[in-house]
Amino acid sequence: MSLQLSEISPDEVKRLAAEFESASLTDVLGWIWNKFGTRAAVGTSFQGAGLVMIDHAIKAGFRFPIFTLDTNLLFTETYELKSRLEKHWGIEIEAIQPAQTVEEQAAEYGAELWKKAPDVCCTLRKVVPLQKKLSTLAVWITGLRRQQSDTRERTQIVELYHFDVLRDLYILKANPMATWSREAVWDYIKANGIPYNALHDRGYRSIGCWPCTRPTDDGSGGAVGGGGGSGDNERAGRWTGFDKSECGIHTFLGESI
Ligand code: ADX
Ligand code: SF4
Repeated sequence: MSLQLSEISPDEVKRLAAEFESASLTDVLGWIWNKFGTRAAVGTSFQGAGLVMIDHAIKAGFRFPIFTLDTNLLFTETYELKSRLEKHWGIEIEAIQPAQTVEEQAAEYGAELWKKAPDVCCTLRKVVPLQKKLSTLAVWITGLRRQQSDTRERTQIVELYHFDVLRDLYILKANPMATWSREAVWDYIKANGIPYNALHDRGYRSIGCWPCTRPTDDGSGGAVGGGGGSGDNERAGRWTGFDKSECGIHTFLGESI
C-alpha cells in the first residue's frame, strides 16, 4: 500500500504543490481521491481545519478512511465530539491506540511521564502509532495550516517524504488546508452546522491531550473563530512550561524531498 517513487516523482510533487496554491479545497482532495482512492487517509484531531476538510470530502463523495490518534488522554469533550461527528456524517472514525495503556506506561516509565519527558510520552502515544499507520498508506492527509505557528509557515499543499529508508518507501503528505485562515475555517463550520469541540467556546484554541493543553485568551471574548488577539500564537496553549511546540508527528519525517 505504501508509495513507490515510480508512482510520483519529487519534481511532479513540486509542480503540483505550486499548481495547488490556487486550486480549491475540493479540487485538491479530488486529485488525491482519483489517483490514490482509499490508499489516502485523513488524520484528524477534530479541530477546525480537519472538520472543514472532511466535510468537503464527504460532500464530494470522496470516501477517504479517517483516523485519529487516540492517546487515551484526550478530553471527555473530544471523545464526545468523535461520536457526534460519526453520527453527523454517518461515518466511522478509526481510533488508533498506543501499544501501552496509560497505566502500563506509568509502570514502565513512571507516573505522569508528560510532566517529566513530554517528548518521550508523545513519541510513545502519537508518533510510533502514526508511523505504523503510515506504513499502510500512500497519502497522509492533514489539517495543517500555515497560520498556526512559525514552525508551520512553510507547509506545502503536497510534500513527499522518504518515509522508510530501509524498505525504500515514500509517503505523500497532503496539507490541503495550508492556505486557510482561522477565520475562514470557523466561518465554514458555523455556516454548515458542523459539530465542534465544546472546549472551543471555553477559551481553548488548540486542543490536544488534557494534561498538556490549557485555554488561551485570544482577546475575542472567547468566541470560536477569534483570530487576532493577545499575540499568543494559536498553539500557545500546548505544553505550557516546556520548550516544546510540536508533538513530533509533523517533524519525525525530517525534510521533504
Ligand atoms: S499537533 O501537532 O499539535 O498534534 P494540531 O493539533 O495542530 O497538531 O493538528 C495539526 C494536524 O495534525 C491535524 O489537522 C491532524 O491532521 C494532525 N493531528 C494532530 N493530532 C492528531 C491526532 N490526535 N490524530 C490524528 N491526526 C492528528
Ligand atoms: Fe503525552 Fe502530553 Fe504528548 Fe499527550 S500531548 S502524548 S499527554 S506528552
